[in-house]
Amino acid sequence: MSTDTKPAYSPGLAGVVAGETAICSVDPNSGLLYRGYDIHEMASLASFEEVAFLLLNGELPTGEQLATFTKEVAAERALPAPVIDMLHLLPKGTHPMDMLRTGVSMLCAFDKDLNDNSHDANIRKSKRLIARLSSLVTNGWRISQGEELIPDKPNLTHAGNFFYKLTGAVPEAWQIRMLDTIFILYADHEFNASTFAARVTASTLADIYAAVTSACGTLKGPLHGGANEASMKMLDEIKTPDRAEKWMMDALARKAKIMGFGHRVYKKGDSRVPVMREIARDLGKRLGREEWVPICEKLEATMEREKHLCANVDLYAAPVFTMLGFPPELNTPIFGVSRVAGWCAHVVEQHDNNRLIRPRSLYSGTPERPYKAISPNGAK
Ligand code: COA
Repeated sequence: MSTDTKPAYSPGLAGVVAGETAICSVDPNSGLLYRGYDIHEMASLASFEEVAFLLLNGELPTGEQLATFTKEVAAERALPAPVIDMLHLLPKGTHPMDMLRTGVSMLCAFDKDLNDNSHDANIRKSKRLIARLSSLVTNGWRISQGEELIPDKPNLTHAGNFFYKLTGAVPEAWQIRMLDTIFILYADHEFNASTFAARVTASTLADIYAAVTSACGTLKGPLHGGANEASMKMLDEIKTPDRAEKWMMDALARKAKIMGFGHRVYKKGDSRVPVMREIARDLGKRLGREEWVPICEKLEATMEREKHLCANVDLYAAPVFTMLGFPPELNTPIFGVSRVAGWCAHVVEQHDNNRLIRPRSLYSGTPERPYKAISPNGAK
């Protein structure tokens, strides 16, 4: 008979504090701080590199440190030739998130620091991962479309180079600013599912590539990062603001989960939504595509009235990515291109002060019962 006593059980670990972090804090009433700095001001003024430096190192960079960090990340963009060959080998129609996860896993074999989990080696590997996840997404997409690869432009920032490598056109300053803001909004979110997966993997003392591969796998699901691709499908189906309320009512009647709504932590609104909504409005005006924001707003009002649930950042990210010219299949990989900064910072923190993450489970199977052998299995 079991003599096991178990701690309190919370399905889905809801409300459970599973570890400490000094990287990011999420306030259920709509606040988000990176290393103590409110993301809102940084989102409109900082570069992604500045925020990545902050997440990884704990403090904002000086001008000189930022210039060095930006250059160091840019210098790591090239993918090893066998990784590019592998991307060519994947069957047509492979989802870009699967290309990304496979690419990250393969990259480990080309990093001389792979099995060194020291702080300094992890920071070096983090810069490579930040640079190369972007290249995996841009190169992977062009390969999947049968297009020639475009060489990096070292003088472009992370956001600028992402645009350029994907499309072949040097982006306008306002486009780079917008992508920097989006990257900053997505860069970290404390113990979200993919970051937690990365930390669980790192807590076994597996390397940072193993951890980021786990994170990529976890990000793909529509309850997490996959929601921004699924939201775009929904908005495409709705098409016009006058159809939004009925669409939502029908979906709720079917008890469907509506993508881009709800959040495990935020209950009074996702702190990133107002910024993403303004980007969507701005893009809509610039491009003459002003239908998306009213559709989203109508959905928000209906969901608030019917279920008191708030929109999350993925609802507005979806039309923003579409208006920036990105295909919907890249919505979640773009999230990953940003969130890798947070994943890496969390792996560094985990390895610097490690304890194996290994919770218990509540057994719900058959109680202990006697085993009756079917055959003597050769024994006499
Ligand atoms: N659409 C419809 N109902 C939703 C909902 C949504 N997007 N999100 C939550 N709910 C409802 C649930 O059906 C449940 O209702 P019930 O108590 O009547 O059964 C209640 O709200 C609690 O939801 P639950 O799924 O238990 O909350 P959670 O904290 O486990 O899940 C999410 C959080 C994010 C997974 C969930 O809100 C969701 O699936 N959202 C859609 C996917 C998404 O946008 N993900 C990106 C998150 S940033």
